[in-house]
Amino acid sequence: MSTGKIESVLSEERSFDPDESFAARAQINGERLAALSRKGESDPEGLWADLAREMLAWHKPFTATLDRSRAPHFAWFPDGELNASEACLGPWIQKAPERPAILYEGENGDSRSLSYRELGEAVERLGAALRAQGVASGDRVVIYMPMCPEAIIAMHACARIGAVHSVVFGGFSARSLYDRVVDASAEVVITADAGRRSGKFVRLKAAVDQALELGEHPVRRVIVFRHSGEEIAWREGRDCWAHELTEAAAPGCPAEQVNAEHPLFLLYTSGSTGKPKGIQHATAGYLLHAKLTCRWVFDLRENDVFWCTADVGWITGHSYVAYGPLASGATVVIYEGAPAWPHGGRFWEICQRYGVTVFYTAPTAIRALMKLGDELPGKYDLSSLRLLGTVGEPINPEAWIWYHRVIGRERCPIVDTWWQTETGGIMISPVPGVTSTKPGSCTRPLPGVQAAIVDENGAEITEPDRGGYLVIRHPWPSMLRDIWGDSQRYRETYFGRFGNDCYITGDSARRDADGYFWIMGRLDDVVNVSGHRLGTMEVESALVAHPSVAEAAVVSRPHEIKGESIFAFVVLKSASAKEAAPSSKTDAMQQALRAWVDQQLGPIARPDDLRIVEALPKTRSGKIMRRLLRSIARGEAINQDISTLENADLVRQLTQPATDPQPP
Ligand code: PRX
Repeated sequence: MSTGKIESVLSEERSFDPDESFAARAQINGERLAALSRKGESDPEGLWADLAREMLAWHKPFTATLDRSRAPHFAWFPDGELNASEACLGPWIQKAPERPAILYEGENGDSRSLSYRELGEAVERLGAALRAQGVASGDRVVIYMPMCPEAIIAMHACARIGAVHSVVFGGFSARSLYDRVVDASAEVVITADAGRRSGKFVRLKAAVDQALELGEHPVRRVIVFRHSGEEIAWREGRDCWAHELTEAAAPGCPAEQVNAEHPLFLLYTSGSTGKPKGIQHATAGYLLHAKLTCRWVFDLRENDVFWCTADVGWITGHSYVAYGPLASGATVVIYEGAPAWPHGGRFWEICQRYGVTVFYTAPTAIRALMKLGDELPGKYDLSSLRLLGTVGEPINPEAWIWYHRVIGRERCPIVDTWWQTETGGIMISPVPGVTSTKPGSCTRPLPGVQAAIVDENGAEITEPDRGGYLVIRHPWPSMLRDIWGDSQRYRETYFGRFGNDCYITGDSARRDADGYFWIMGRLDDVVNVSGHRLGTMEVESALVAHPSVAEAAVVSRPHEIKGESIFAFVVLKSASAKEAAPSSKTDAMQQALRAWVDQQLGPIARPDDLRIVEALPKTRSGKIMRRLLRSIARGEAINQDISTLENADLVRQLTQPATDPQPP
């Protein structure tokens, strides 16, 4: 997507007022939103305290709201106590035990429904089993699962006993899993035999086995759910079947009441270095925001059927699958499989089958489905839908309009929600029924969220349409608390530049004359592939770990469906370069390196383009000229200053794919 496109559409000033019939039924009206926003400006702590009392079931009520004594490690509701899973599911197990909590559909057509009662029982059984295995409050448990009910059960079982879950996306490789297990020093891994995607098995247990061969690690137990029935290898003394453990465990599993600040989970995300960050979230503030935003942004209520298509391996699958909608008493749809498998109407078929009322997905999925044409969605009854959402990357206006017209049938408001793994929940978004929307803009911050755009000195930019750093001025309850094991990186990354009261998002943005926010992209070396953040350094580290690679530089370029794709420039070691010199062998080397990245990091990190070059363009001080590489990858005219380039002739070579590279 090019920013140029947004600009040109912006000049049309398309704006969509809230649908009247939606507004008439919405939980938040204009007056209420204005009152909340005013309070959020003048007394944010008071606002959050009111909301925390109203929305959460506390075991021990809090008396203090915000503790700044360890800033920028802020503590919210610091003397309160609760249990996240109990606070989330408990009220509905009481009130509506037989209401479906989870409706699961597998790619192969399997389907299962779990009521709130059944979900609660399964959580208790697994919680008891984990306790019996010696998992205690505060211990980390890695969850590496397909998108099936047991993934959610595992998260809640950890929360129920105060253990800290760290979900690793099932599409990540054994190497990525190993790194995360070691960083979190997790003693227990919960997995399944295999999952399914695009008609193939994703062999998770085999990846766990492989990961645990990669080096030293603290894992003593691998708990395996039987899911696909695939045969798996077994390590006696370490591996155990989940069903055997839960059958053997004593009935009941009292909820561990923890401090509001007790870590609920870690979730690893990419930053601008090669090492992923273990983003640490706290219990109460996180749950509050997840639940609250379901009300404010999705207008979610008890009889809604909510489908957020994100995997639980990402933050969206935490906040808007496993926690927020269940805390709201809604029914959650989960689907394990690829969006267009085995046919392009699969998503719409699921919406029709389960009567989905609120649908939340990523622009990359919308673009991919849009490409298949208007006819497919037209074949399905989508009349149950009342609200549509998007997240993960800027949505190009063309895709927004298609979503509005073809999926929403011009009736459903669209919420373009901006947030991050670090923010825990939605921060900038329309409130449906109140906010007029503009395609491509996430509109305005939610109440209590003091978002601003500042220049490089931290001064607020008030002039419309001038880009700058997107920051959040005041702490908020669902913000990350730390980077696991690396507080210094936490302080430097998020507060190093503008002080403790100014959280740096890493995004650039501008505000238009109406005060609407337009996200322009990342400022750090992070690419957004299909709505997933990947550090370019991570891919570079993976490439240079290959025995034939001497150096690598990775940049992004716009991609029609994925948003951005990865473009790698690779310098081979001289012996390998000689070997790969004929063009037939260059191809083989390129394939081998792309497959290598896949194996090291997982398929989402595989470079779409990989160019073998003689050398990387560097300044005289040895810095790789990434801006230049970005322009080359994008096929743009080179108009930047290359006078500091060590080898000026290199640019000519870089701009044409090397067919017969010479050894360096
Ligand atoms: O660059 C922004 C982009 O995704 C980043 C956060 O990525 P992650 O932590 O993986 O979380 C994704 C799901 C919340 C942001 O820094 N991003 C997210 N939502 C939007 C967005 N960019 C534009 N518009 C959005 N609605």
